Order: sequence, then structure tokens, then C-alpha cells
Amino acid sequence: ALAEDGYGLWLRYRPLAAGPAADLATRAGSIETEEAADPTIAAAVAELRRALPGMTGRPAGQGGTLLIGTPASPRIAALGLLLARAGDDGFVIRDVTVGGRRLLVIAGNRPVGALYGAFHFLRLAQQGALPARLDVAERPRVKLRLLNHWDNLDRTVERGYSGQSIWAWWKLPIASDPRYVDYARANASLGINGAVLNNVNAKPDSLTPDWIAKAAKVADVLRPYGIRVYLSARWSAPVELKQAKTADPLDPAVAAWWRAKADEIYRAIPDFGGFLVKANSEGQPGPQDYKRTHVDGANMLAAAVKPHGGIVMWRAFVYSDVDPDDRAKQAYDEFKPLDSRFADNVIVQVKNGPIDFQPREPFHPLFGAMPKTPLMLEVQITKEYLGFATHLAYLAPMWSEVLAADTYAKGRGSTVAKVIDGSLEGHRLTGMAGVANIGSDRNWSGSIFDQANWYAFGRLAWNPDLTPQAIAGEWARQTFTPDPAFVTPVTAMMMGSRQAVVDYMTPMGLAHLMATGHHYGPGPWVGDLARPEWNPTYYHRADKDGIGFDRTRTGSNAVAQYAAPVAKRFADKRTVGDDFLLWFHHVGWDERQPSGRTLWEELVSRYDRGVATVEGMQRTWASLAPMIDGERAAQIASFLVIQKEEAIWWRDASLAYFGSVSGRKLPTGVRPPA
Ligand code: GCU
Repeated sequence: ALAEDGYGLWLRYRPLAAGPAADLATRAGSIETEEAADPTIAAAVAELRRALPGMTGRPAGQGGTLLIGTPASPRIAALGLLLARAGDDGFVIRDVTVGGRRLLVIAGNRPVGALYGAFHFLRLAQQGALPARLDVAERPRVKLRLLNHWDNLDRTVERGYSGQSIWAWWKLPIASDPRYVDYARANASLGINGAVLNNVNAKPDSLTPDWIAKAAKVADVLRPYGIRVYLSARWSAPVELKQAKTADPLDPAVAAWWRAKADEIYRAIPDFGGFLVKANSEGQPGPQDYKRTHVDGANMLAAAVKPHGGIVMWRAFVYSDVDPDDRAKQAYDEFKPLDSRFADNVIVQVKNGPIDFQPREPFHPLFGAMPKTPLMLEVQITKEYLGFATHLAYLAPMWSEVLAADTYAKGRGSTVAKVIDGSLEGHRLTGMAGVANIGSDRNWSGSIFDQANWYAFGRLAWNPDLTPQAIAGEWARQTFTPDPAFVTPVTAMMMGSRQAVVDYMTPMGLAHLMATGHHYGPGPWVGDLARPEWNPTYYHRADKDGIGFDRTRTGSNAVAQYAAPVAKRFADKRTVGDDFLLWFHHVGWDERQPSGRTLWEELVSRYDRGVATVEGMQRTWASLAPMIDGERAAQIASFLVIQKEEAIWWRDASLAYFGSVSGRKLPTGVRPPA
């Protein structure tokens, strides 16, 4: 047997226990369709045929019948399945009885829905227990469920920790790669329906005919799986490619260049999704270089793709040369006044928090603040600020925390989830993007547990209300074993893992204390970088009296960017809660916390708790490892050793530094809270 190296992700299709295996064979022994000519239905059938014999232990073609397709299939149309429940992209899975014989049906209104249904069925089956009578109907809540690859054309990956880019650009467009198909299968299994292939810090070359042909080849491979290709566009491409004198969005020659470029791309990729743009941020060019606005830029591009049904995702992550009294305020300040002015095929892509993918940030104040503009949520699957690929940190709790956050934009219950699924303001263009953690490592994501973050992103984009706990359980059952003796403790370990990182890196609302540049390891002391807000000292503001960034009225007043009830809660030290205390307040070292400890003692105990949690994870894993294969078990154990050493490094370095600033000693007798 092949070593278990993680390549199979959560699509391993290992033999089930005797009872579930027999049941599955009885219900889905042979796969039938009347739409085999459709490439998407063909992909679904191929997946089922590949999966089921391995799980049931019986050759294909024996046992009960599974019928898959759409109403284009006469047998499915005859069943009258009430497919309205499935919407455009969803599915129905049902056990029915036809002519006295049992039949299992998976149907969507479109082939892609049937494909998602097939993967959902396999998800249920792999977990070891199908309900006695299946009657499932699902549809995605969010329309654009996209991966953003920060992949460069030389195959390096910005903030990628799992090897080279999976896109083997030099071999494209002639040679494909079987990995592209497995990538598509994994994404389709979650309902992910789009991929931006190249880095937001884009090169103009990605828009040249050579690269368009390469992207077209990838698009051809992904298409049967319902995945569209998008490209990041570099604002100044027409100038850098020496085909225009300016990139001024209001110059007719520039608009004509982009129209022609869009036409060219659509000739090669008829279902091209559109452009993602990072403009006037971190040195990237943009319309502001010509004294134009984000609206001028986005709408000009939107007009170019509009005749083809394309969209523009315009990023709100703007971080530029202004002299910020508070970097956290810049996106809101620039975008809020532009509400209602964007074209109807523009969606503004907003990071979960106002700074930059820190282990914990409050939700971005733009959510709820631009009711007339569709906003999509951008999260980072790759762990730039959470220990790269070696630290075990399950990120669904972080994303769910943001999705569940109440913006109060239209009173209580105006959650971020309702902003991005369009239900709060009645938008139909909706989306969620995840910065991919995928590379050419055998295990795709650099570590086994990082696969769970890819998985969780896809599941939450499909349904933002799924609980992180349930998603972790699904993933662990499919990735390792359905045995509850394994799944229960591993799920608990995953659920606590992100808070552990917060505790040992940036507790109580601290942020951006990572070493400069690579963002790995502690560097709270750095104080000599060119711009103040590149220095961790800008973020923690520790001095001999206290620590934290005053974002209330006495400070930067960033709290005022939130709806009144939220602003009021954040502005008061007594109600802000300790997760965001130092994000919004400068607090004296000796101020008493609800625990009875001083702030200094509390911080020390948080750092300690982070280390203790990692030690607990090591113990958990030591007890569980014998239940799975040796190769994955050993890799995970060794990464936990790295994580523990580095958690200690973080704690000791941070406390040594803060202790030197505060003049406080390490308290004796402070134990982690129970
Ligand atoms: C972070 C990250 C950059 C990235 C940027 C972005 O700042 O460190 O590498 O380009 O986010 O989201 O554009």
C-alpha cells in the first residue's frame, strides 16, 4: 500500500466498518446516469465509482442503484423531486422507491449541483453512518466561493509555506498535471467555485498572450468541476507592457486597452470570472496615482468585463503612504465615502479585520458600513501570522467569530455573515475569498492539520453558519478515522488551538508583534524601521506605565468607525472584553482585571496558558497517534515539538521585553487560569 502521506486529503475513501460498508453497497452499489456526456456529471460519476468500491469493499456494479443527474434526465424529471430547494448550485439527495425498488437519487438543477451532491454524499458516507432514509437538500449561501492564490509567475508563493506554486507555469499550456485534477476534486468537494491564479501583487506578464494561454489550459482542467479562473490584474500593466502611455482610468485609450484585453481573455477562457485588484496599497500602483478614486478604477475595469458577464473584486486592503495616526482606520476612511458609486459588477473585498490577518482582530468596520455596495469577506487560510505550516492552529473558530460578529448596522442581529451573504442589504453578488495555503508539497498544505483550514474555509463559504466544531469533526473523520475515541479528543484539540496561538503570541488584543518581514517569531522590540507603523512598538505602545493602543476618543478614535452600540462597547474598558482590551485601550500595568490580577500578571498568565495548551496538545496527540498511520502521526508529533519550543520562545521573548519596558518582574505563583 502507498504510504499515507496526506496527498489524499479528506478524499481517502478507506474501507468502512462492516455494517456501514454493507449498507452503502446496498444503497449505492452501481452508479447510473442519463447524462454521461456532460463533463461535470461525468466527473461526479467518476468520483463515485472511484470512491465506493474502496469504501464498501465490493466491486462496482453490485448492490443497489444510485442515480445522478439533473432534470434533463427523464428518469430524474419523472421523480418530481422539488428541486427548487436546491437553487442554482445546490442539490437534493433522497432515498426513493420506484416500482417497488429502492433508488438513491442525487440531483441538482444544474450539473454542478449534482457534482456537489455526489461529494456531499461521499462526505456523509465516509463519516461512517448514513441516515436510514436520506432526504437532504442544500444550496450555498454565498455565490463566489473563491481561493486567492498568492502565486508568482516564477512559482514562488507569497506567504506560502507548502512548497512551490502548484501551477507549473513553464510546462503550461502544453502539459497539464494530474495534480490540477486532484486540486479541482478537493475544491469541488467543498463547493469552492473559483480560483484567482496569481498573486495580488501582480506582474504585468500575467496579462500577456503567453500567460493567458497558460491560464486557459488550467481553466479547461478546472471547468468540469465547476471552478472558474480569475486573474489578479496589475493596475499599471498597459504602461509596463508598453501599450499605453498612462494607466489613468479616465483616459479613453486606457479603457479601450482593458476592453480589448478582456475580449482577448474571453476568447481564450469563455467563462473567465474576472479580475481581482490590489490598488494603491503597499506600493502597488492604482488609480490614485492619477488623482482618481477606487470607483474610477473599479468601474472602468468592470465595464471591460461586463459584456462577458465578468466581475471585478476590488480589494479594500489599502495601506499606503499616508501618514496614519492609525493604520486600522485607512480602509474605512477611503471606502465608506464611495458607497453606492460602484458599478453593479463590482464587489469590494474586505479582510476580516482592519489591520492584516492577525491571530485576533475585531471585525472590519466596513462590514455594515457600505450598505449599497456588495462586500466580500477575505480571510487568510495560509498562516502568515500564526506560525506558518508547523504550528497547529485550526482557523474556523477565528472566521466564525468574525462571521457571527454583530455589526448592528441595521440593529441587533446584523451579523457579518448576513452582510456577506447579501441578506442584510439584499445584494445578489456575494462572496467569500480565502488566501490559499496550497502548494506542491505532497500533503498540499505543508502540514496535515493545515488541510483542515482549506476544508473549513470551503465549508464556511458554502454555509457561514456551520459550527467550527462540526466542521472539525467532519474533517477528522474523513482525514483520519470515524472512531469517536479519536474524533472527540482531536476535535477538542483543534478547537483550542487558535486561542493557544493568540495566548502565546498576541494575547488580550495585542497585534503585529511578529519579527519584521517574514512575520515568524517574536520581535516586539524592533524600533528602527523606516515607517513608524512598520514597527511593533507602533502597535503595542508599551511604556513604563502601561500597554495597548488607545483607539477611543482620547486616542485615534477608531471605535467611531463602528455602529454606535458596538463603538460604545469597545470604547469602555469594562465592556470591551479581554480579547480586545489592548486593541482599543492603553491600560496601566497595575490596573486590576476581572480575574483580580493586575494587567501585567494577567498577561504573564496568558502567555503561560498558551504554552500549557500546546503541551496539552502534545499529550493528546501522543495518546491518539497509535490510532492512525505512522507517517502522518510522526510528522504531526514532530511539528508539535517545534510549536512547543516556539511557544516558549514567544512567551519568554515577549515577557522579557515587556518586563524590561514596564520594570515589572515575573510574578511568582501565577498559574494559568483553570
Ligand atoms: C499582507 C502580506 C503581504 C500581502 C498583503 C495583501 O500584508 O504580508 O504579503 O501582499 O497582506 O493582502 O495584499
